[in-house]
Parts: sequence; structure tokens; C-alpha cells
Amino acid sequence: MTPSTSETKSRKRLFIRTYGCQMNVYDSERMRDLLIPLGYEPAEAPEGADLVILNTCHIREKAAEKVYSELGRLKPLKEEKQAAGGQMTITVAGCVAQAEGAEIQRRAPVVDLVVGPQTYHRLPELIARVHRERGEALETEFEAEEKFDALAAPKRHVEGYTAFVTVQEGCDKFCSFCVVPYTRGAEYSRPAAQITAEVRALAAQGVREITLLGQNVNAYSGEPPAGEEAGGRWGLARLIRHLALIGGIERIRFTTSHPNDMDDELITAFGGEEKLMPYLHLPVQSGSDRILKAMNRKHSSAQYAALIARLREIRPDIAMSGDFIVGFPGEQESDFEATLRLVEEIGYASAFSFKYSRRPGTPGAAMAGQVDEAVMAERLARLQALLDTQQQAFNASMVGRKLPVLFEREGRNPGQLGGRSPYLQAVHCDGPTGLIGHIAMVEILSASKNALGARLLNGESCAA
Ligand code: SAH
Ligand code: SF4
Ligand code: F3S
Repeated sequence: MTPSTSETKSRKRLFIRTYGCQMNVYDSERMRDLLIPLGYEPAEAPEGADLVILNTCHIREKAAEKVYSELGRLKPLKEEKQAAGGQMTITVAGCVAQAEGAEIQRRAPVVDLVVGPQTYHRLPELIARVHRERGEALETEFEAEEKFDALAAPKRHVEGYTAFVTVQEGCDKFCSFCVVPYTRGAEYSRPAAQITAEVRALAAQGVREITLLGQNVNAYSGEPPAGEEAGGRWGLARLIRHLALIGGIERIRFTTSHPNDMDDELITAFGGEEKLMPYLHLPVQSGSDRILKAMNRKHSSAQYAALIARLREIRPDIAMSGDFIVGFPGEQESDFEATLRLVEEIGYASAFSFKYSRRPGTPGAAMAGQVDEAVMAERLARLQALLDTQQQAFNASMVGRKLPVLFEREGRNPGQLGGRSPYLQAVHCDGPTGLIGHIAMVEILSASKNALGARLLNGESCAA
């Protein structure tokens, strides 16, 4: 085999497919940033790629199964590549990798490498090992241990004006239905200085809006920057206030939060910190106290509603979002009705709802009273009908209002721009491309379930 030249290196194609939550989206971007300096070039499709990474999600059974069907589709592509004298290295990363480990390669021998969410920074070294085992020439970069350290913090390449920034990872809550504490490990918060440096670099590349990510982002408890409040830790509110001072950053969001970690300082920040957007994703999962207890959520339905009432006192227009699970073991019709009542009481701007999925290794999987599939489907349909009506009503309530929109891209139709309202609604509006990357005032003219149509306050108009 001949050693790689810089010419062949520039031709190595990398395809990453991302499943699951925004933290996986962030991790995929970081893997890409880690591999670009090693001569990989991002590709739009897996056909002919030298390296394919499936960044997987284990949250529900369907999510995990998708990985195996995708691996089935990759097998002939890998064989084609081999027949043409090349190699396609297939890597499974993310939460399925963590949960199933070596079992993946047993079930799908097409996989060359399995790497969990905590170890993906070792990808270059691991890929080098696969190449070595195949008897292929090594890239010199792969051999230099110290280079890996340098690569642990590669420059982020961002496209566009919004970016995710992981500030916290892992979860210590152990809700009885959930795999995340097992796949992502214990809670860990990144030091504030590291986050600040990352956000400054994003702002310098034109990013205007950041979304701080964590499985339990509001449990953030990070080391303060040197010279600030030595000894104490910073909570999320303190971090947000600090990041809000960075020039260029106009909007800050965070997700996902747990009701029990919404402290006073964070609630108050919705009133005082202008850059913190009036939108909060705060999953409750169920409206029944009996089910919440079995889920190990450690809060009641009334405590959740009281928390939102306080948020609305501070910030009356705050848009609420949530997650719901129907059909948790033991859920009776009366428990489900309690969920519907809670939804009626809160009024959501958007929400995600799921049928309970039995996850091996979680306490819920072993509980008595597993709910029939047909019952779950029927409850989910009723819940989603209610949530859809609320989302539609929330959007309709915007018609006639004037809102600041961050324009992010050109719209589907010529001359149209696409952006987001403070409440995270998609907004379409005719306007000059020069507005992309800027915030401009619009008047909302129309609303559908998923988008708003608007006109720029200096003229042009369009429909949703
Ligand atoms: N850390 C976040 C997100 C967890 S995963 C939180 O605490 O809310 C996102 C959502 O997936 C959860 O909020 C829950 O609604 C859903 N989910 C998690 N495990 C599930 C399971 N076993 N079955 C169905 N839905 C599940
Ligand atoms: Fe899962 Fe509960 Fe942790 Fe959220 S808080 S990640 S639902 S265990
Ligand atoms: Fe899925 Fe892992 Fe995120 S299980 S939801 S990708 S933390």
C-alpha cells in the first residue's frame, strides 16, 4: 500500500448521519471539525464515502432499530467501495454505541468501529487503529499522540447565524423510563471560561443566537472563570448573564430543563435578561401524580403548574413547550385525563409527545401494568389533537403583532427570507438577502400550525 499524499487526503469523503437530540447534532459537528484537519471532506450522501459515522439515539426502541436498518443499507455500499479498490470505514457513535457496545458488531459485522458519546474525541486514533489492522498505510497525523491533544479542541466551523453550545452533559435524575443516565453518564458541567471562549469564537464568525444544550441544562453548575467568585460555582442564570455580554450575541436560549432545577435566579432571568428569549422547553411527561411518582420525576403536577405560573408572573408572554409520555406502565384512563387537564391548564405553544417505549435496563421495563399498544395509540392521538389545537391557537394569536425576527436564510420562494420569532416560531417574509444574519421588525399577517407569514415593517409582505 502506498502512503497517503496530501492529494489523496483531500479526497477522503466523510458522511455523518445524526439521529436523536440536539446534543447529538452538536457532537456530530464536533466530530466533523475533528476530522476535517485530517483530510476529510464532508459529503452529502454515504455513496462512495471513505468514512461513514452514524451518530445514534437510544431513547426509544424505534430510534435504536433505525440504526440497524441503516447499517443494512450501508452494507452494499461498503462492498461496492471495496470492489473498486477502496475502503469504507463504518463507525457507530452516540447513545446506541454506549448502550450496546460490542453487541453492535456482533449483530452488524459491517461495523468497523463503535465509539460512545464520551470518547468521540479519540476518533482519529481509533480510525488509525482500524486502518492499521487492515494493513493500510497510516496518516502521519494519526501517529502523533500529542496531535490528538491539540485536536481535542478544534476550531468550530459554523454555517449560519444560530449555533448549539453544549454546556452540560449527562443526567443524575434516573427517571424510570429513560436510558439517558446510562448512555450519557453522570452530570458534568463545562467550565464557564471554556464556554465563553467558544461563544466568543462563534460570535466572531457571525453567530447571533446561541442555544445552550444539556440533558439537564438548568442543573448547570460550572467552574467560574479565573478571578471570578473563587470557590463558588456558576449556575445557568449566571452563565447566561455572562454570555449576554459578548458582542454580537443577540439571543440566548437553553434546552432541555428539568422542573426541579428551575431556581429563582433562572426564573428571574426571564424578566431581567433581554437577550434570554421568552420560550422554555420544560418537560413534565405526565399530569398524574401517581404516574409522576412511578416515573421517579420527584415533582407533582401542581408543583409544575405553580412553577409555570411564577414564570408567567415574571414574563407574561413566555411560550411554553414540553414533552409527554402516554402509556407509562400502570397508566389508567383517569391518569391520562389528568395529563389532558394539565395541558388545558398550561396552554402550550409547542410540544413533543410519545408512546412509552420499554427500554431494557430501565426500571420501567420491569414494571407491572404495561399498557396495550392500541390504548397508547388512542391516547397519543387525543393528546396530540389537543396540543396541535393549542399550537395553532398560539400561532394565530400572533397575527397583527409586531415582532423582531432573526433572519437565518433565504426562504423557499424567490425573494423570501426565513427566520425565527422570539418564541421560536418559523417566520417567512419577503425581503432583501442583506437582512440575513440580522434582526428586523415584522408585522405578522398569517399563521398556520407550523409557521407565520409576515411583512417587513419597511414594506414587503408574504403569506405563511
Ligand atoms: N433530559 C430531557 C430530555 C430527555 S429525552 C428531559 O429530562 O426532559 C427527550 C424525551 O424523550 C423525554 O422528555 C421523554 O418525553 C421522551 N422519552 C424518554 N424516554 C422515553 C421512553 N422510554 N419512551 C417514550 N418516550 C421517552
Ligand atoms: Fe431522562 Fe429524566 Fe434525565 Fe431527562 S431528567 S434525561 S427524562 S432521566
Ligand atoms: Fe437520544 Fe442520546 Fe439524545 S439517547 S435523545 S441521542 S442523549
